[in-house]
Amino acid sequence: MTGDLTLPRATGAAREDLATRAERDPQRPRFHFVSPAGWLNDPNGLSHWKGVYHLFYQYNPYGPVHHRIHWGHATSTDLVTWTDEPVALVPSEGPDVDGCWSGVLVDDGGVPTLVYSGRHGERELPCVATGSPDLRSWEKHPGNPVVAAPPEGVEVTAFRDHCVWREGGTWRQLVGSGVRGVGGAAFLYESADLRSWRYVGPLLTGDAGRGGPGDLDWTGTMWECVDLFRLPAPADPAHAADGTPAGSATAEGTDVLVFSAWDEGVTHHPLYWTGRYAGDTFTPTALHRLDYGQRYFYAPQSTRDAHGRRVMFGWLQEGRGEAATAEAGWCGVMSLPRLVTMGTDGRLAQRPVPEVDRLRREHAAAGPLTLGGGEHAPLDDVRGDQLDLVTTLRLEPGATARLTVRATPDGAERTVVEIERRADGTPGADGGTLRLRREHSSLDPTVDTDPRHGPVPIGADGVVELRVLVDHSALEIFAGGRALAARVYPTRADALGVGLTATGTLRVERFDAWRMADVWTGAPRPLWP
Ligand code: FRU
Repeated sequence: MTGDLTLPRATGAAREDLATRAERDPQRPRFHFVSPAGWLNDPNGLSHWKGVYHLFYQYNPYGPVHHRIHWGHATSTDLVTWTDEPVALVPSEGPDVDGCWSGVLVDDGGVPTLVYSGRHGERELPCVATGSPDLRSWEKHPGNPVVAAPPEGVEVTAFRDHCVWREGGTWRQLVGSGVRGVGGAAFLYESADLRSWRYVGPLLTGDAGRGGPGDLDWTGTMWECVDLFRLPAPADPAHAADGTPAGSATAEGTDVLVFSAWDEGVTHHPLYWTGRYAGDTFTPTALHRLDYGQRYFYAPQSTRDAHGRRVMFGWLQEGRGEAATAEAGWCGVMSLPRLVTMGTDGRLAQRPVPEVDRLRREHAAAGPLTLGGGEHAPLDDVRGDQLDLVTTLRLEPGATARLTVRATPDGAERTVVEIERRADGTPGADGGTLRLRREHSSLDPTVDTDPRHGPVPIGADGVVELRVLVDHSALEIFAGGRALAARVYPTRADALGVGLTATGTLRVERFDAWRMADVWTGAPRPLWP
């Protein structure tokens, strides 16, 4: 571990090198947010401040490695086009000398205030910084860290990341943690001024002994990036579309506690509890997977915007080797902004915010048509590596729809999104399975090709809405409100094909495809805006 303060800012030439290299990389997304170059991980300080969306992020402007993390900053008025703002937080002598780790932005009576984890050695502790009215310059509180140590008498696995809100006249804060030998936890604190905090107790503690590291809903030994929010009840809270009772949804809404399950340095997956937050505890109703891409949608953070929408971003990690990343000069993608609502089945429904549609350009459409026994839909004119594909599928029981993207004409490289309906046709939250197959995504043997999968709701009519956003190496899939993010790295420039086939009978009610516009000019962006 280095506390090296002498690290010089990259000189003009080296600086340009990194950013120029990044822009040349064909794997670099063109309509997702990415850092100017170097390293990006978690979204931080997400907020809608005086009509402007602020997205801060874990950033290393020196190189595509996780080291001495800064807070990058970008603003947007539409959630899709971004302006780079000056780097907000830089590690400095003191409690954040080894990194300014994840945190949030709150409005302290008009003063923009960051609560983040300062890293010093192997330790992270809560720190505070206040901003100028334009949120462009930040001053660290001289009394940092504002919490001197994790709760006394508790052996914690880690202690970092923050969710802060105002309740009555008091500030409340959750810090992500874990109790050794027990499981992940969210610790609750209270303060009158954001600077002096009283430990209240654990809001909720998980059980790492239930299941294990191989389980897709294992809650891990530490909870990173805890995020607590309430969602209004869906329009019809009484019954789901398929007639089943509505889980935890109530007229007052549902409380949701999102966290990322971590264990011994391994970033497993984002999960959420639904339940009820009251007093000093969270009483869980159910645990669910937030994104079937596992670590490819990690450490999400959300905010309620001025339109009352819950908007969430997550970090799409890389799936290629360190050498390729070093060569590329950049690393890490921010997800598209997602609109998160409570579904009638008591689970979160996710889709890209409608603003994403503004990036749609040339359009092609197909359907209605019926595919059976391996037939291909006529989609020859749909090609590209920047696409928004939207389709309404009606599957017979036991049928599987296969949407192929980033395919070479000879099929040597191809990425397949599958939706399979249960053979018995039973409707419900697991009426079908969404699967991403990446075993032929790339001819590069060093990239991650593990499949991903999870249940999707299918009603008695067999209909599923599927949307696939392809942005070079970034892939975001939405099916029946469930999400699956991942990365794919085709090596060939002709890996642009799109295809749709089926096993069993598939009715394609509608298929729409758009080329998506670039949100970046392609010119190298300054690493230190
Ligand atoms: C999650 C995380 C956080 C931490 C930050 C460091 O990806 O590990 O727990 O604050 O990233 O960059």
